[in-house]
Amino acid sequence: MSDKISDKIYTPPQSAVQGAHVSGMAAYDALCKEAESDYEGYWARLARELLSWKQPFTQVLNDSDAPFFKWFEDGRLNVSYNCLDRHVEAGRGDRVAVIFEADDGSVTRVTYADLLARTVQLANALKARGVKKGDRVVIYMPMSVEGVVAMQACARIGATHSVVFGGFSAQSLRDRVQDAGAVLILTADEQQRGGKSLALKSIVDEALADNSCPTIRGVIVYKRTGGAIGWVEGRDEWLHDAVAGQAPTCEPEWVEAEHPLFLLYTSGSTGKPKGVQHSTGGYLLHAALTTKWTFDLKDSDIFWCTADIGWVTGHTYITYGPLALGGTEVVFESIPTYPDAGRFWQMIQKHQVTIFYTAPTAIRSLIKAAETNAAVHPRNYDLSSLRILGSVGEPINPAAWEWYHQHVGGGRCPIVDTFWQTETGGHMITPLPGATPLVPGSCTLPFPGITAAIVDETGNDVPNGQGGILVVKKPWPSMIRTIYGDPERFKKSYYPPELKGYYLAGDGAIRDAQTGYFTITGRIDDVLNVSGHRMGTMEIESALVSCTELVAEAAVVGRPDDTTGEAICAFVVLKRPRPSGDEAKAIAKQLRDWVAKEIGPIAKPKDIRFGDNLPKTRSGKIMRRLLRSVAKGEAVTQDTSTLENPAILEQLGQAY
Ligand code: PRX
Repeated sequence: MSDKISDKIYTPPQSAVQGAHVSGMAAYDALCKEAESDYEGYWARLARELLSWKQPFTQVLNDSDAPFFKWFEDGRLNVSYNCLDRHVEAGRGDRVAVIFEADDGSVTRVTYADLLARTVQLANALKARGVKKGDRVVIYMPMSVEGVVAMQACARIGATHSVVFGGFSAQSLRDRVQDAGAVLILTADEQQRGGKSLALKSIVDEALADNSCPTIRGVIVYKRTGGAIGWVEGRDEWLHDAVAGQAPTCEPEWVEAEHPLFLLYTSGSTGKPKGVQHSTGGYLLHAALTTKWTFDLKDSDIFWCTADIGWVTGHTYITYGPLALGGTEVVFESIPTYPDAGRFWQMIQKHQVTIFYTAPTAIRSLIKAAETNAAVHPRNYDLSSLRILGSVGEPINPAAWEWYHQHVGGGRCPIVDTFWQTETGGHMITPLPGATPLVPGSCTLPFPGITAAIVDETGNDVPNGQGGILVVKKPWPSMIRTIYGDPERFKKSYYPPELKGYYLAGDGAIRDAQTGYFTITGRIDDVLNVSGHRMGTMEIESALVSCTELVAEAAVVGRPDDTTGEAICAFVVLKRPRPSGDEAKAIAKQLRDWVAKEIGPIAKPKDIRFGDNLPKTRSGKIMRRLLRSVAKGEAVTQDTSTLENPAILEQLGQAY
C-alpha cells in the first residue's frame, strides 16, 4: 500500500454540509476567528452552552502557575449528572443510550433512565464501601454496560477512576494500582471475546497477591461468564450483591471543575508508564464539543466507536462524549473477526449505524480479510445507514483511506481522520465532516480553538512544506493536568523550556505548502504505535532484561508493518552463547511469553533477533538508528564510523 499522501481532494457532499453543526468552511473559519479574537470568551461560551453547571464559573483560564493550567476553576458540576440525569430530567429517559452487542451477537438496549438507575445504585454501593471523593478506583473490566456504569458511578461520587485495559498483565495492573494508590478494584470474573473466555479476576488476584497493594480495600466482581474464580472472603464481593438493595437516588458530588475525573496510564519514553490526569469541566467540555462537531452527532444518529474503554478513545467517545450529548451508541464486547471478519459490517447493517469510528489497523486487517474471503467484503452488507466515518490512533495510509471511503462509506461519507492523544483528552487536528475538504492521509486542520503548530527545536515556526515538531501553543480545556504523583515529569515531558511554553505532543508533522493541511509523520520519541496501541520501547526493554536468567541486554525499535502500522522488533544479547535454528525459535517464544506476562500480549515483540552484542558507540550508547535499518531489513547506509563493532550489524540482520 502506498504511503504517499494523496493529492486527491474530496469536498464534503451537500448532504453532509446541509444541517451540519458546523456547516461549510465559512462556519469553520468563523469559529476559528472567534477563538482567535477572544480565546477565553470562546471556550467560556461553549462551556456554558454544552455543560450544566451546579455553580457557574466566573473565571475561565488561570495560567498563573503555568504549565499547570486551570480552567473554569470556581465552577462546580458533576459528569454523571451531565451524561445522565439532565437527559432524564428533560423527559428523555426512555431514549436508548446504549445498544450493547455481546460476543455471541445478543443485544441489550439500555435507556438513559436505566443507565442512570444502574449508575446510582453502584455509586451508592461504592459509598457504602467507604469510597469517597478523590479516592482512586481501578476499573479492570471487559467492554460492557457495567464498565460504562462503573466509570459513571465513580464520576458521580467524585472518585477518580483509572481504567486498565483488560489486555494488561497482572504485573502491569499491580504497577498501576500501586502508582495510583487505588482503594478499590472493579473487575469481572472473565471477559468473553471471540468465543473464548479470558481471565480477569484471577489476574486481579495475582496483582494483589502477597499484600502487594495494601491500599486496596475491596474488589467488586461483575459476573460475566460464571466461570470458576478464586475468592478472598472479606475483600471480594459480587457486583449484583453490592448493588442489591441500594437506594435508587444518589445526590451527585458537585466537584470543582479541576477535580480529577480520571487517570489513564500511557507509555512515555521511560520504562515507567505515566498516569495522565484529566480534569472534570474542561475534559467534559471537549468530549462533548468534539463529539458534536467532529461527528456531527444528532438525535437521529446511531454512533459506534469500536475502541475499548481501556483506552482514551473509549473514555471520550464511548463513556463521556456521546452520553453528555444524549446520543445513542453501540457498545461492542467482541472483536472484528468473530465469528468472521464481516462482523463490523454486519453490525452496522443490523443497528443502522450512522457514524462509525475505528482504527486504521482494523481497517487494514479487514481489507486483507475481504481480499481472501469475498463473503466478508463490505459490499455484501447494506451499509446505507452510514453518513460519517472516523479514523483514530495512527496515521491512515491513503490506500486504506480510499478503501474505507469507497467500500464502507459508499463514496458518500466524509472520513474524519482525528489526530489526538491520551494527554489531549479529545480531538486536536481533524476535519469537520460538513466543512473540511478531505485529503486522504492528512488529518487536515486544527479543531476550532486548538492552536496546533509546527516548530523547530527552539520553538520557532517552520514554514509550510517543511517538517518539524508538533506543538500546541495555547493551553486548552481538556489538556492533561499533570502526571499523577510526578509533576516534574509532567513539565519535563510536555513543556520543555526550549519550546517557549508550548505543549510538546511528541509527534513530528508537516503542513502542506498549498493547503496548510497537517500530516502526522510519527513519534519523535521512543514511543511505538502498534495496532493503534501506544507502547514505550524502554518499557519492553525493561521487561526483557527483567528475565535475568536469560537476558543480558536488549534494545527495542519499531519497524513499519502493513497491518499493524508498526511492529515491535527486539534485539537481544543472551547470557549464554548466541542460539540458532530451533533453539533460537524456542528462546524467542519464551521471551515473547515473558513480555506478555510482564506487560501484556499487546507488547509481544514480533521479531526477536539475537546477537553477541549490540551496535554501540565507543562511549557505549546503543545506536538505535542502525537497529531501525536492520529491523527493516535495509542495507545500513548511515554513517557507522562511531560504531565500535560494525560486524555486529550483519549478525543481527540474520534470521534463524
Ligand atoms: O502518534 C500519534 C498517534 O497516536 C499517539 C497517541 O496515542 P494515544 O495516546 O494512545 O492515543 C490514541 C488515541 C487518540 C499520537 O501521539 N495518533 C493518534 N491519532 C492519530 C495518530 N497519528 C496519526 N494520525 C492520527 N489520526
